[in-house]
Amino acid sequence: MAGKIPPQFIDDLLTRVDIVDIIDARVPLKKAGKNLHACCPFHNEKTPSFTVSAEKQFYHCFGCSAHGTAIGFLMEYEQMSFPESIQELAEHVGMTVPVTQSLSSTPATQNLYDLLDKVSQYYVHQLQTHPQRAPFVDYLQKRGLSTKTIEHFNIGMAPDGWDNVLKTFGSNEFARKQLNEAGLLSSNDKGHTYDRFRNRIMFPIRDRRGRVIGFGGRVLDDSTPKYLNSPETPVFHKGSELYGLYQARKTNRNLDRVVIVEGYMDVIALAEYGVTNAVATLGTATTPEHLQQLMRRPAEIVFCFDGDRAGREAAWRAAENALPLLGGNNQLKFMFLADGEDPDSVVQEQGADRFNKLVDDAKNYSDFFFDSLEARVDISSMDGRARLVEIAKPYLRHVPVGVYRDMLEQRLAEKAQTTTQVLNKHLEKPAKIDSKIKKSSRSTSTAFSPVRIAITMLLQHPSLHAEVGEFNKIASLELPGVKILAQMLETLSENPHLNTAALLERARDSQYEAHFQQLAQQTLTFEADKLQPELNGIIQQLQQQAIEQRYEYLEHKGLRNLTEEELLEYKALYLKA
Ligand code: GTP
Ligand code: MN
Repeated sequence: MAGKIPPQFIDDLLTRVDIVDIIDARVPLKKAGKNLHACCPFHNEKTPSFTVSAEKQFYHCFGCSAHGTAIGFLMEYEQMSFPESIQELAEHVGMTVPVTQSLSSTPATQNLYDLLDKVSQYYVHQLQTHPQRAPFVDYLQKRGLSTKTIEHFNIGMAPDGWDNVLKTFGSNEFARKQLNEAGLLSSNDKGHTYDRFRNRIMFPIRDRRGRVIGFGGRVLDDSTPKYLNSPETPVFHKGSELYGLYQARKTNRNLDRVVIVEGYMDVIALAEYGVTNAVATLGTATTPEHLQQLMRRPAEIVFCFDGDRAGREAAWRAAENALPLLGGNNQLKFMFLADGEDPDSVVQEQGADRFNKLVDDAKNYSDFFFDSLEARVDISSMDGRARLVEIAKPYLRHVPVGVYRDMLEQRLAEKAQTTTQVLNKHLEKPAKIDSKIKKSSRSTSTAFSPVRIAITMLLQHPSLHAEVGEFNKIASLELPGVKILAQMLETLSENPHLNTAALLERARDSQYEAHFQQLAQQTLTFEADKLQPELNGIIQQLQQQAIEQRYEYLEHKGLRNLTEEELLEYKALYLKA
């Protein structure tokens, strides 16, 4: 959605809005040194760790790691959508949001939400009144669900028959088109259109604001498919939604621990037994988008899987997807149930206390990570330990630079019976630039690559860009992150007045979003007056290295083989290299 409001408008908006006013109106702030602070609105605390930086136009809680821009604050605190937050801020400073067609609550999608909501109520009503409701009611009872829980999740029934919904909601062509767009119809090869959900228990799926966006439907017997989900629609994206998140948040004002389980029925059965903090993916692996949703708030996130092979594999995929989001204050954990059990059966047969105990005993991310990797090698031999380093390295590269990554590296070094110095020699790509810059810049942490430092500096102090000198060649370097750095310098030279918040908002919904958020919070160890020279040093080194690399490439190609253009370039480079 972010792309639909012109980025330029968001940039302007974020230079006019003051995040301090926006937050202070909702959470009174007190002065604390350069920043302002308050007790965090997103978790329970007695001493303030929620800070707002007027300079960066960014808030960050040291207690729970909630963080973001003014836009992000409204989204979290007021549960507004992205366009709604923009609208609110624009009104606050008297700007008008340019009208485009595809904001997330244009009339077209608003109609879909309304329709889905009505259909959900229809399914609920059927479960209460339909002449053939008995088997559905019995089924839910047999599964141990009380009326209260059935109501809490708005569980309903799609009666048997091809056109119940079609007839009730599709009186004209436009209405049928809407039904189809909402994912409620299917059609066969002959072009016949009919209800997608027939003779199934219906679970409405809500987004985090509580709007019905789709359904899961379960058969009553052993027929297949056991579950049928809504297809992707303009409002339903299976890969990023979590079933039960809305209810979990509604029940727990401070959701400081979330358990991710595999099935709808797991979420519901757990709630029946008072375990109200479970959510489920919709039959897919846990994606970074899922995790990002949860990490907007402080929380311990516990993955719950079956103990069988498939469960372990799914857990490992989740662990991989979580790598770029590690660090900060979100703790990730893994728990495994005995073979043949699922959370539903555990809570029904052994009770909520037993389930909660298993959650308490969940394995730390790092333990699961290393146990899984160690299982692949023979750790008792030197060769096995060397192999462990080799296979761990590509994973560690995805972890944001910071204390957590340092500690994983430390742990890897211990396991491999070597030192972090030896490891770090190999962890980043063996680029010439590394050694040069380390010598010149006494950087305190060896794990910080110069490129990362530069990105962090620019993100936190965008105005530094004005004096960095030439950087037109660096994008060609084969170093992690260098493309992002080049892009950022480019963006800043085109839009010299962007602040930290505007840069962060430009990254919203991109693959860099989480990473940028992390870097915006990183503490830079340089003194204020050292920032500019450090940054300039890094950019100049990179530019120089790019020039040398290009020069060597052209030289290697042989003067005779160069095009006229390349020859000119070669001559120009000769003077610089
Ligand atoms: P119960 O069998 O009713 O206890 O359901 P469950 O929620 O425990 O489901 P299960 O553990 O078998 O599967 C976990 C999740 O995978 C389900 O909640 C669904 O989201 C998804 N799933 C299971 N079976 C199917 C299927 O046949 N089709 C689709 N699309 N998804 C399925
Ligand atoms: Mn089950």
